[in-house]
Amino acid sequence: MTLPAPLPDAAEKARVVEAMFDRIAPRYGLINHLMTGGLDVVWRRRAVIELRLPRGALVADLACGTGQLSRALGRAGYRTIGVDSSAGMLARLRGADQVVRADILDLPFAAASIDGAASGFALRNVVDIGRCVAEMARVVRPGGRVAILDLAEPRPATHWIQSTWIEGVVPRLGALLSDGEAYRYLPASTAYLPDGDGLVGMFRDAGFVDTRRILLGFGTVQLLVGTRA
Ligand SMILES: C[S@@+](CC[C@H](N)C(=O)[O-])C[C@H]1O[C@@H](n2cnc3c(N)ncnc32)[C@H](O)[C@@H]1O
Repeated sequence: MTLPAPLPDAAEKARVVEAMFDRIAPRYGLINHLMTGGLDVVWRRRAVIELRLPRGALVADLACGTGQLSRALGRAGYRTIGVDSSAGMLARLRGADQVVRADILDLPFAAASIDGAASGFALRNVVDIGRCVAEMARVVRPGGRVAILDLAEPRPATHWIQSTWIEGVVPRLGALLSDGEAYRYLPASTAYLPDGDGLVGMFRDAGFVDTRRILLGFGTVQLLVGTRA
């Protein structure tokens, strides 16, 4: 895959991503709300709804950042473990019942030890997406559920939203309020994601059934859901 600037290749990606999230942590939540017009809250709530687990179920928020998804999971009655590699993001985390600093490619959980996993806008940041999905499949018990949100690659019908808002306004807003380089990377990094069928196939191959891909936000955001076989 040839990556356009400002995307690091696999060898540097883990280091660059961790340093970047440490830098943008102080204003991460604010900019998220501004750049989505508050819709990020709605999308996380939809991910929580799609988990469809019983109240009290133990759910890991993978790459939890400052805990926006953890808090939504908690409000739905789930017990939460937040996992993230960025010390800067974890220093600002609120709302997870337990917290672990770890790489989500190497989860510090036993096999089949949790009821579900959720993640918000993190999948495209890992070095190996297939391995990340395989780790989810390892730690989620049979019958458990996953709900994974991320940006989506532009489709012809929605390309104008992506090019004017996500690639035009977001980097300028990021530069003004936080870190211009990071907010050029974040929209551009959808290039690391396989296409929709490829992503659904990864979840199926890892051992998830009833796998569905739901498009949100005029197709700019995707939600992958599945049940562990
Ligand atoms: C765009 S933020 C999303 C934060 C949060 N999930 C949300 O919904 O707002 C991406 C997060 O992924 C974390 N991250 C990226 N790669 C990771 C990895 N390999 N292991 C653990 N965390 C990772 C970053 O530190 C950052 O907090």
